[in-house]
Amino acid sequence: MQGKRILLVVGGGIAAYKCLELIRRGRERGLRFRCVTTRAAEQFVTPLSLAALAGEKVYRDLFSLTDEAEMGHIRLSREADLVVVAPATADLLAKMAGGHADDLASTLLLATDKPVLVAPAMNPRMWAHPATQRNLRQLRADGIHVVGPETGELACGEEGPGRMAEVETILAAIEALLVGDGPRLEGVRVLVTSGPTREPLDPVRYLTNRSSGRQGHAIAAAFAAAGAEVVLVSGPVALADPPGVHTVHVETAEEMLAACLAALPVEVAVCAAAVADWRPARRLPAKLKKTAEGPPPTLELEDNPDILATLARHPEARPHLVVGFAAETEEVVAHARAKLARKGCDLILANDVGPRSGVLGGPRNRVHVIDRDGTLESWPELDKREVARRLVRLVAERLGRAVCA
Ligand code: C5P
Repeated sequence: MQGKRILLVVGGGIAAYKCLELIRRGRERGLRFRCVTTRAAEQFVTPLSLAALAGEKVYRDLFSLTDEAEMGHIRLSREADLVVVAPATADLLAKMAGGHADDLASTLLLATDKPVLVAPAMNPRMWAHPATQRNLRQLRADGIHVVGPETGELACGEEGPGRMAEVETILAAIEALLVGDGPRLEGVRVLVTSGPTREPLDPVRYLTNRSSGRQGHAIAAAFAAAGAEVVLVSGPVALADPPGVHTVHVETAEEMLAACLAALPVEVAVCAAAVADWRPARRLPAKLKKTAEGPPPTLELEDNPDILATLARHPEARPHLVVGFAAETEEVVAHARAKLARKGCDLILANDVGPRSGVLGGPRNRVHVIDRDGTLESWPELDKREVARRLVRLVAERLGRAVCA
């Protein structure tokens, strides 16, 4: 990302303070920032702080003659590699969807010919409002990239979706949109599964596991950043859909399998989802009632389909390369080797998910890569995004794609 230029439009929301951190972290990674504020933004963050951190003048006023003499708004909007709107308030999104241009921020968003990434942040009711959702659909259809929002406690005291994506998530989205170094996979279709599955017992209860989806989502984002056409089939997770990825949301293993089969043909399939091995044998139509007498009910389980094995053994549309994951708590490599053979995949990434590893739900992963011919490559403990980038590189090599620096 060295030297890439970000035009950062700061909207008027409490999350504007996170922009300061975004600039700091982004500059550490070599990004250059030029900031534009809306009038409301300056109630939350001062142009002076933004200018100090960005090391550049902050642009605020459409009609400022100096600004226009120094740099017209058209040039401002185009002298960037990417335009980022953070926080993207409900009002800014509405203006963008409607094509308004009544201040500097909205004008340059209309005038730009560069990709635009928005990081929405607002009260959960404002987010859920049909008008906001309609605007968002419109913006997506117009090719605007969206990162977040996340679900959680908000500064207004309410809880729900509406919290601006974390700085690291925004940076990952920026990275995915800026064409980076590394292998290029244009024209390659990739299927990625991610997250847990949720197997209902009755309308209110379900069986699931602790998978966060972080590794699978990072893999989908890394393939998209390399130019691949990515379908991500995700179980229920608290993560934003990765930018530039077609995400299909499912709950159960059966739904996940159906979505995967519908995505075929693909050249590469990476099964990173923690699919529940079993599901309740009966899915009750009404809530199972607690009775005063009698023993607690016994739960009868039945097998779920094995998605990885189904793809690896597909009679007509087996992907060229099928990659599985093996989450193990003991004898990690030995068990993973047996799994590779049993499931018929080409590569397996084995990770130790023992209780002290911090892998499940955590940001880092330690992976052993095992090949069909039994060769083993152990990677050091890495950020899950770096694991994803290495996997993309490995897949590109297998596909015989040129790998640049
Ligand atoms: O057998 P196990 O669940 O440990 O295998 C892990 C690998 O198999 C992962 O790649 C996971 O995504 C995949 N898997 C699957 N469908 C299942 C179970 C596991 O695709 N029902």
